[in-house]
Amino acid sequence: MNSRRDFIKKTAVVGAGITISPSLTFGTSNSPEKLKVGLIGVGLRGTNHVNNLLLRKDVLITAICDVDPKRIALNIDLIKKYGQPKPNVFDKNDYDYRNLLALKDVDAVLISTPWLWHTRMAKDAMKAGKYAGVEVSAANTMEECWDLVNTHEQTGTHMMILENVNYRRDILAVLNMVKQNVFGELMHFRCGYQHDLRFVKLNDGKTAYGKGVEFGEKGISESKWRTQHSLLRNADVYPTHGVGPIAVMTDINRGNRFVTLTSHATKSRGLHNYIVDNGGEDHPNANLKFKMGDVITSTIETANGETIIVTHDTSLPRPYSLGFRVQGTKGLWEVDGNRIYIEGKSESHRWDNADDWLKKYDHPLWVKYGEHAMGAGHGGMDFFVINAFVESAKQNIAPPLDAYDAAAWSAITPLSELSIENNGTPQDFPDFTRGNWIKRKPLDWMKDTY
Ligand SMILES: NC(=O)c1ccc[n+]([C@@H]2O[C@H](COP(=O)([O-])OP(=O)(O)OC[C@H]3O[C@@H](n4cnc5c(N)ncnc54)[C@H](O)[C@@H]3O)[C@@H](O)[C@H]2O)c1
Repeated sequence: MNSRRDFIKKTAVVGAGITISPSLTFGTSNSPEKLKVGLIGVGLRGTNHVNNLLLRKDVLITAICDVDPKRIALNIDLIKKYGQPKPNVFDKNDYDYRNLLALKDVDAVLISTPWLWHTRMAKDAMKAGKYAGVEVSAANTMEECWDLVNTHEQTGTHMMILENVNYRRDILAVLNMVKQNVFGELMHFRCGYQHDLRFVKLNDGKTAYGKGVEFGEKGISESKWRTQHSLLRNADVYPTHGVGPIAVMTDINRGNRFVTLTSHATKSRGLHNYIVDNGGEDHPNANLKFKMGDVITSTIETANGETIIVTHDTSLPRPYSLGFRVQGTKGLWEVDGNRIYIEGKSESHRWDNADDWLKKYDHPLWVKYGEHAMGAGHGGMDFFVINAFVESAKQNIAPPLDAYDAAAWSAITPLSELSIENNGTPQDFPDFTRGNWIKRKPLDWMKDTY
């Protein structure tokens, strides 16, 4: 902890330069002191984070942890290629990450493991005084949601939910429009995770996106763990890509909060049909009954009187879309169709193509660093989410997406499960801020630093 405090003191001067010097913000000059980052889980997502961190001059990767030796070897090679020293390696067993957390040489950790590890690892990281970034979703059960909040409050250590979609160019432009009242008073939203993951949940055990109908021990990458959730839970297990951006637009936990939710699920067909089509009727997996409905629809009501429809749709054929709609008293944006209508500005009853609007309201971050960001993966948003994490960790300040956000967004999973099980009965959200949402102020999301 001492070295952590020294680091923060020493970098306070560097931090002061952040707002005026873009080169420092994005670590393109050699900072006197680097943020020492450890990564827990270097599968597909963790390796993407390694790639982004290696491009920064203000970060040193001091440790990596994974239980798969192939992933460790691949990442050591990658780090070597960038001329950085070999990191400490933790690969002995499922709990070796705790030895990484004991390292003095780690200021901050990025957790990119399967979902069931997220909260346990984030809690242990906070207890060890390490600034924690955790992949989405952050928690699986209501108890885990509270664990994140309680551990943050008890330890005083920060955690950030690494929701990259909050940094997508169109999302930040629409947030800018929301802040400038272009849509009027906010009323209604749609969002979700609509992504055909059949070939992710099922594969041949050799390549992550290859043909094949195996999962669990016989699968590779996400099919090793994600598919089990489809088998056993009828819930929206991945709500944050959709709800994260909407939560920021509606000031959730900062003057507003999620109050209740109702959920409904269709029957389940997609994974079964995929197994029969690609593995044959006699494949043992063709006998499985997947509990998760193919399309799960949840409606959230907020304290300020908005409604948000969140959809989870990952087992049927469909092109990718997060299905965003942002609607107020003056008009609306819909991502499908790339269209905007603003009363008095658009031709009556006719959609505008959204391009000109999104360009006009382009977020200051994207205006300044868009070109630089584009190489980072996922259309640039991965660059900005990692940047926000690193800049917050360097200053040891609360991140833009914090433990309360992680808890409120992730709570959709257990609440949707309960609602579906009870024929759509409304479920109350806990108030993870313990009443403080009334006085917590919205963050300044319009700055051009992070
Ligand atoms: N934000 C995004 O756009 C995005 C994209 C992809 C994945 N994700 C999230 O990132 C996380 C990881 O997904 P992925 O696609 O990289 O999956 P993956 O299966 O490719 O990687 C997970 C890694 O964790 C390792 N692991 C498992 N248990 C461990 C333990 N106890 N200790 C150390 N390592 C352990 C595995 O060996 C594997 O290498 C998930 O939560 C996923 O939802 C987010």
